Amino acid sequence: MARFNGKVSFITGGAIGFGRAFGRALSAEGSSIVLADIDKAAADTEAAWLTERGFAALAVECDVADETQVDHAVEEAVERFGGIDILVNNAGKHLTKYNQPFSVLPRHEVRALFDVNVHGVINCSVACRGSMSARGGGAILNISSIAARFSGTPYGVSKLAVEGLTVAFAQEFASDAIRVNGIAPGLMATENALDDLPREMIDDFVSNRQMIHRLGTMDDIVEAMLFLCSDSSGFVTGETLQVSGGYPLSH
Ligand SMILES: NC(=O)c1ccc[n+]([C@@H]2O[C@H](COP(=O)([O-])OP(=O)(O)OC[C@H]3O[C@@H](n4cnc5c(N)ncnc54)[C@H](O)[C@@H]3O)[C@@H](O)[C@H]2O)c1
Repeated sequence: MARFNGKVSFITGGAIGFGRAFGRALSAEGSSIVLADIDKAAADTEAAWLTERGFAALAVECDVADETQVDHAVEEAVERFGGIDILVNNAGKHLTKYNQPFSVLPRHEVRALFDVNVHGVINCSVACRGSMSARGGGAILNISSIAARFSGTPYGVSKLAVEGLTVAFAQEFASDAIRVNGIAPGLMATENALDDLPREMIDDFVSNRQMIHRLGTMDDIVEAMLFLCSDSSGFVTGETLQVSGGYPLSH
């Protein structure tokens, strides 16, 4: 079933990790893909992978924290594919160093984190609104984290802000028929997460903290993304779906 035939999806941080998996899944269901990534070489590699398989893909160099670069990336996407229907705000800083207390993480690092994780979502959402509206509506998906629900660290608070933006933009963009939802992934098996996190922490999550005792996979997140970006969720907006094997437990 090609749920996204004729659609154009703009994916931030689309070169690797979740973003790459999102682009491949949306391509397979008929969408043209824009990979907006600060790492142009990696985005080019992924765009070539898609193009070689007959999918329509464009790599654009873009730091989501920079509103001018975002505006240019959106212009380039509209010029190439005629508009944007789906925005996935996926690019984010998420290494363990951002889980240090605010008084320990250097202030310039806190600012850089919020510039990408929070202002990046604002920049891309506002920049894409006009094109989505002109095409009769669209869907925005923000990638939060379960850290938003249990962690008072800079990373957790940045993702709490993302969840706030999901509600704010759902309200603000509803008049343009743009739905805005989020996913809060738990610990997932992306290359960077596996490289960054201590093995004992991963084992503890899977064995003791989750209700479902296996590592979260790309497919778990991709299925949630396809639902929230498609008409299957046409009556859902302002919602963040936790995909985390049941962690953190709520009573
Ligand atoms: N991996 C996990 O376990 C996990 C869990 C919860 C939430 N998340 C969130 O999911 C999202 C993606 O995570 P991932 O593990 O796939 O990340 P990743 O580090 O594997 O990939 C991130 C991509 O974003 C790009 N990027 C980084 N900064 C950017 C910027 N300023 N502008 C544009 N592109 C930029 C990178 O070049 C890279 O291609 C992030 O928002 C992260 O916080 C991840």
